[in-house]
Amino acid sequence: MDSSMLFALLLALFIPILLHLITRRKYSSYNLPPGSFGLPFIGQSISLLRALRSNTDYQWYQGRIKKYGPVSKMWLFGSPTVMMAGPAANHFIFSNTDLLFTGTSSLNLLTGRNTLMLSGEELKQVRSALQNFLCPEMVIKYVCKMDKEVRRHVKLNWVGHKTVKVLPLAKKLTFDIICSVIFGQEACSVRKALATDVQTLVKAVLSIPVKIPFTRFSKGLSASGRIRKVLRGIAHERETLLQQDHGTSSDDFFTYMLASRAEGVHSLTVEDIVDNAIFLLIAGYETSSVLITFMLRHLEKEPEVLGKITEEQDEIARSKGPEDPLNWDDVSRMKYTWKVAMETLRTIPPVFGGFRTASKDIEYHGYHIPKGWLVFTAQPVTHLDANLFPEPSKFNPARFENHSSIPPYCFVPFGGGPRMCPGNEFARTETLVTMHYLVTQFRWKMCCKDEGYKKDPSPTPILGLPVELEPRLPT
Ligand code: HEM
Repeated sequence: MDSSMLFALLLALFIPILLHLITRRKYSSYNLPPGSFGLPFIGQSISLLRALRSNTDYQWYQGRIKKYGPVSKMWLFGSPTVMMAGPAANHFIFSNTDLLFTGTSSLNLLTGRNTLMLSGEELKQVRSALQNFLCPEMVIKYVCKMDKEVRRHVKLNWVGHKTVKVLPLAKKLTFDIICSVIFGQEACSVRKALATDVQTLVKAVLSIPVKIPFTRFSKGLSASGRIRKVLRGIAHERETLLQQDHGTSSDDFFTYMLASRAEGVHSLTVEDIVDNAIFLLIAGYETSSVLITFMLRHLEKEPEVLGKITEEQDEIARSKGPEDPLNWDDVSRMKYTWKVAMETLRTIPPVFGGFRTASKDIEYHGYHIPKGWLVFTAQPVTHLDANLFPEPSKFNPARFENHSSIPPYCFVPFGGGPRMCPGNEFARTETLVTMHYLVTQFRWKMCCKDEGYKKDPSPTPILGLPVELEPRLPT
């Protein structure tokens, strides 16, 4: 090793240690929550990632709560972080306007200036544009697109197959659905160009944000650059069409955002629109595919629940001709199926937690949380608490028979408060449309009965959930 390399290595080791010591000194007058920062810069990131990957994250959170109480400090994904646990903490985090919505440092660097990173007037504009694009009145219009995508997908990938791997197929399906809504008619050509890069990007979201070649983060950064280039091209194309007045009848995301900008609804630049489209692509496919996958996994293990869903879906199928697409009324009738989905979201939430950044020094339960620190809540902490959900490991959709009996901020798969997931209605509808065609046409058995799953960062069956398929006809 030559002397300049040795110097660089020493500097790389010394700077984080120095930063760490400065941080400690800076907050000496604060009453910080208990807990240690651990190793400089890395802190507890690797330990949490390991717990997520070995599916022992609930035990990891419980371990901390036992050791330090419901509020504790640590160092996660490049930032000092306070973990808070329980419904009151969820309420505090989701509704406190001094806590700004945050992705991890990696997510921010990978996805750019999207809705997660904005605040004030800019956020108001973007959030309202996204909410309008995903509101129930718009989702009613998307049912037809979803139905078309699901039928095409089932015919191509499920019918006639003896075994299928559920997770990759569910990802492909939800990616195709979100692409059809974001890109409209161009969806087919665009989705092929983007599919692999979007997966690489998602994998990098929880990585440590250091640009070292061949790391997850570096690969994610390159993928993000390629995605941005493709989307920028489409955005400029749509802008030209709109200026020539040819694109106004199109209902894709880009045309919608550019047209609403022309009407003065918001003032986002093309780059901002591209960044939000990237985030929508990720948010819109990764989560719903996990829900669909784990619903099928639960149903295989719960014949009684499968029987009840089948009854509900067969009745809807009987009320229609074989080629009639599902409509909004049909989706509204799938009440039991949605309870099964909610119980799936409780037991295996696709998003493991929520992050916020303190925009100023704040106080919680007598502890100071300094400006700029992250605040973190983990969904399993309340979802699997026996005081809130008796027999939490039991799969029991009947818990949701009387939804209002569940105390607020305990069931939070979509987050809560003003930043609650605006795609929840979209996710509900695509999941129900998909379940209709799968439950009425197939029976499935897991190829590997004890296949486990890891969180990577979203829940992922180890083998991708291969299942043996049998065709069935609605009765
Ligand atoms: C089962 C499926 C889904 C789950 C479990 C889920 C969950 C979440 C969660 C936990 C958040 C953060 C909320 C918070 O911290 O308060 C979020 C935000 C978000 N989700 Fe979803 N989501 C799902 C599907 C979707 C879909 C299908 C879309 C789009 C079509 C979408 C778009 C978004 C957007 C844009 C945000 C950011 C909101 C903001 O910036 O205020 N999500 N989602």
